[in-house]
Amino acid sequence: MRNINRFFIKFSPFFEKQRDRCVRDYLGKNESLREIIDRCDKTSKSCGVSLSDYVALYEIVRHRKPRFVLECGTGKSTMIIAQAMLDNREKDGIDDIKLVSMDHNKEWQEHAVSIFPEKFKSFVEILYSPLKIYGCSLIRGTIYEEVPNHPYEFVFVDGPSQEGMCNMQFVKVVENSDIPVSAVTDNRKNSVLAYTLLFGPDKVSYYVPWSLGIVDEVTSNDFVFKDPLKMKTTIFDHVVPFRFGNPIGK
Ligand SMILES: C[S@@+](CC[C@H](N)C(=O)[O-])C[C@H]1O[C@@H](n2cnc3c(N)ncnc32)[C@H](O)[C@@H]1O
Repeated sequence: MRNINRFFIKFSPFFEKQRDRCVRDYLGKNESLREIIDRCDKTSKSCGVSLSDYVALYEIVRHRKPRFVLECGTGKSTMIIAQAMLDNREKDGIDDIKLVSMDHNKEWQEHAVSIFPEKFKSFVEILYSPLKIYGCSLIRGTIYEEVPNHPYEFVFVDGPSQEGMCNMQFVKVVENSDIPVSAVTDNRKNSVLAYTLLFGPDKVSYYVPWSLGIVDEVTSNDFVFKDPLKMKTTIFDHVVPFRFGNPIGK
């Protein structure tokens, strides 16, 4: 009975209606967001993300006001993040902002550069880089070969293509950072699972109706494998089923 309820709660259309209402209301109140969505839909050939992702991404950047943002997977989302950062500068005086957007596909990177609005160009860099494999503790995934070094506070993970791998760029940023770093992932369950194993379930959430993963302000001290007690209570308790009794017979 408990399992059926959990299934019902997770997949109830009620939550999707609630999400759609929230998205409609939010768009109704945010003219600059509506305008930039319209512009990127007209100019970009990128596959993009969903309308609810644009709203969540814009709101998170407006609310947290990061000065340095790294995006993995360039496209329409680059314009949404840039618009939120520009609004932070114009409406809230957040200066010295920088958005670095990385793509592993030269054709897509060049397309994004060719249509990028003039008003963002002073603080946005759209860069191509090949990928390489990177590991941290027991997790392996992809990172870009060359990413400019900045004190990133927020990472949007929507690339590279998953193909059974997770995005390790966010993890590398955290490893090299002195400040807390947050991330949003667009429906990338491999990466959400990898981040949960590395930082523990208290730091990672997956919002089912929004198909979004959020990692909340982690530092290099939050790696579960650095703390033997956390390792025991977090990884084992959540990922490996505990059995009691005798494993070799009755
Ligand atoms: C999920 S897409 C990234 C989308 C991006 N964040 C956006 O909002 O448009 C992941 C990667 O697929 C590639 N890509 C983008 N648009 C594509 C398309 N229409 N067809 C095939 N590949 C695409 C790019 O290399 C991109 O980084």
